[in-house]
Parts: sequence; C-alpha cells; structure tokens
Amino acid sequence: MRKINPQRVFDTPCKHSGLTRSDSFRPEGLLSVSTCMDTDFRQEMAEDVLSGMTGSVKSIPCKYLYDAYGSRLFDRICTLPEYYPTRTELEILDRNAHLIMEFFTEGEGSLIEIGSGSDLKIRSLLKGLNREGARHVRYVPVDICETSLLRSAHRLLDDFPWLCIHALVADFTRHINHLQDGRKLIAFLGGTFGNFTHEQGVALLKGFAGIMSGRDRMLLGIDMLKPPGIIEAAYNDQSGVTAEFNRNILRHVNHRLRADFRLDDFEHLAFFDPDREQVEMHLRARSRISAHIAEAGLCVSLEPGETILTEISRKFSRMRAMDCFDQAGLVPVRWFTDANAWFSLVELAVRAG
Ligand SMILES: C[S@@+](CC[C@H](N)C(=O)[O-])C[C@H]1O[C@@H](n2cnc3c(N)ncnc32)[C@H](O)[C@@H]1O
Repeated sequence: MRKINPQRVFDTPCKHSGLTRSDSFRPEGLLSVSTCMDTDFRQEMAEDVLSGMTGSVKSIPCKYLYDAYGSRLFDRICTLPEYYPTRTELEILDRNAHLIMEFFTEGEGSLIEIGSGSDLKIRSLLKGLNREGARHVRYVPVDICETSLLRSAHRLLDDFPWLCIHALVADFTRHINHLQDGRKLIAFLGGTFGNFTHEQGVALLKGFAGIMSGRDRMLLGIDMLKPPGIIEAAYNDQSGVTAEFNRNILRHVNHRLRADFRLDDFEHLAFFDPDREQVEMHLRARSRISAHIAEAGLCVSLEPGETILTEISRKFSRMRAMDCFDQAGLVPVRWFTDANAWFSLVELAVRAG
C-alpha cells in the first residue's frame, strides 16, 4: 500500500467553517489517502478485458464503468426521476441513521464505506452521530476511482471539518485484507452488491466476514424485487444518462488500453430477466464491428445485434438475500426498509461459533 501525497487535499480551505485544514482542531491531519493500486492497473484491465471479450458471451467487468467521467455520470443517474434506488435508500438512511450510528457511541471505530462513490449517503449517516459518536468515528471510504474518492473527501471536509478521513484507492474484490483491524462498521451501500453473481456475492461477503470480529457490523444495501416496469425504467431513463454511462465503458477501454471502439456503433440495452431476477445492461452492435484493443493484443469482431454485457444488477427477495448471508456466515441483526419494501438496508454480524 502506497501513500498518496495528501498536500493537494490539505491545501483546500473549508468553505463553511472558514478554516484551513491546518487551522482545524484536530491538527494530526484530517485526511490521508493511500492506494492499493500499485500493481499496473492497465495490465490488470487488459487481462480482464481480454478474458471478457474472448468468452462465450462478450463482457467487460462493470468496475470499468467508473473512470472519472463514469463516476460523474453515475452521480447524475442517482438524481434522475426514474432511478428510485438512491432516493429510497436515502429515505431509509435518513430515518434510521441515529440508530445505526449508535455503534460509535460505544467506542472508537472505523466507518468503512465500500465503493463509496459520491458523499451523498455517508452524509446522512454522519448526521446521525451524536456528540460522543462524532468523537469516536474515523471514516474510511474505499473506491477504485481516485478522482471521485478525493472529490467526495473534499466535499465532506467542507461540511464536517472535524472528521478524520483515511481514503483508500482500492479494488474491493482484491484488497479487502488491506482494511485495518479495530472496531468497524462496514457500509456497502447502493445496489453494488447486486452487481455480482450469487457465487461472487457470497465470496465477497465471506471476505468481509473474514475481517469482522463479533462486535463489528456490516450495513448492506440490497435492491428488492418489484414490478419489472419500475426496475426497467430505472435503467432506461428518458434523458439518456444511463446510455451515456454504459457507452463510457468503451471510452475508458479506448483511453487506457489504446482501443478504437466507436461509441456510436453501439446502442444501450437494459432489461429485467425474470428468471435470473436481474437487470442486464449490454452494449448492442448496430452493425458488423471490428475493433483493435492494442494493450490487450486483441482484435474483436461483433456481428450486428451481438452484445457486450457490461453490468448485472440483481434484485432480491428476502429469502434469496438470507441465503447469501447464510452461505457467507453472516446473520441479520436489523433489517431496515421503506414503506414499499423496494430497498433494504440490512445490518449484519458474523455468525457466532
Ligand atoms: C453503483 S456505484 C455506488 C456508489 C455509492 N456507494 C452509492 O450507493 O451511490 C458503485 C461504486 O463502487 C465503485 N466500485 C465499483 N467496483 C469497484 C471495485 N471493484 N473496487 C472498488 N470500487 C469499486 C465505483 O467506482 C462506484 O463509486
């Protein structure tokens, strides 16, 4: 793990308090940034893209949707009228943050946010802290997108100048063991858990369970099954932001791997598969397409109508979710939901014994 020079971050004045970082009342430093992405990210992406694009169904892992531009587009998606998950989850968080954050009243600990993205939801949790909790909490956002991580940290420090942040640029599928020991509440919010197949999701949860002691907790967001029309609308917004977000994965591949995909050659396709209980997001070739991905040493061709799978988003029944928790050795302690039961936030602990 390598430290990133925090200077550029410390130099930023706090808009609301009028203080600079060094003036603040916790002079030991409010923000440090480390990265686990020391190994050549480009090399890893090349391997992932090579294996995805040569499989029986062409695919690119959804984590590559999130370069700096992709992260900004996702923030916009969260504000769209069709995109119910964010406002529904926020409503649950706003209502229950004080209960969830009681965790920090009892003693010092880390609030680790996995795939943190924008600072929107963590604000809601931080507002639920009481005075004692605010003294005890340390915030550890973890995201693959450094730009988004730093932008969110800046914004948080503007409004919570007392907050101690240790940001980690990391791939949570590979670097979970870099998360520090000590009391922790792991927040894995949004529908990100749903981006993994059952087997991958269980493996991921097992990884988290492996770094949790009996007193630690995990707060997991899961998007629940609901009428397919509502789900499909959320991934096919009228303004086309999700389509732009989807096509951006090719822009990212072009940029990092010296590929020559033409984005206009692909149309956005997102649908709910009731058998698999998941949304699938694809890019569909409008015509016969050939592209060269230089860093992966690969020439790909697609027939007209052939697709590249860019994301799955599973929707859960309580039973299906319980099955994942059980297989991962986790048990629900509290289950928070909204009036329609469209979204759930489940507080999990490791199973005793
Ligand atoms: C669907 S967004 C959710 C963002 C935020 N948690 C929310 O609930 O709105 C997924 C976030 O996880 C990050 N991410 C995706 N895959 C990742 C990975 N393998 N490792 C680290 N971060 C990842 C993305 O950069 C993005 O910020």
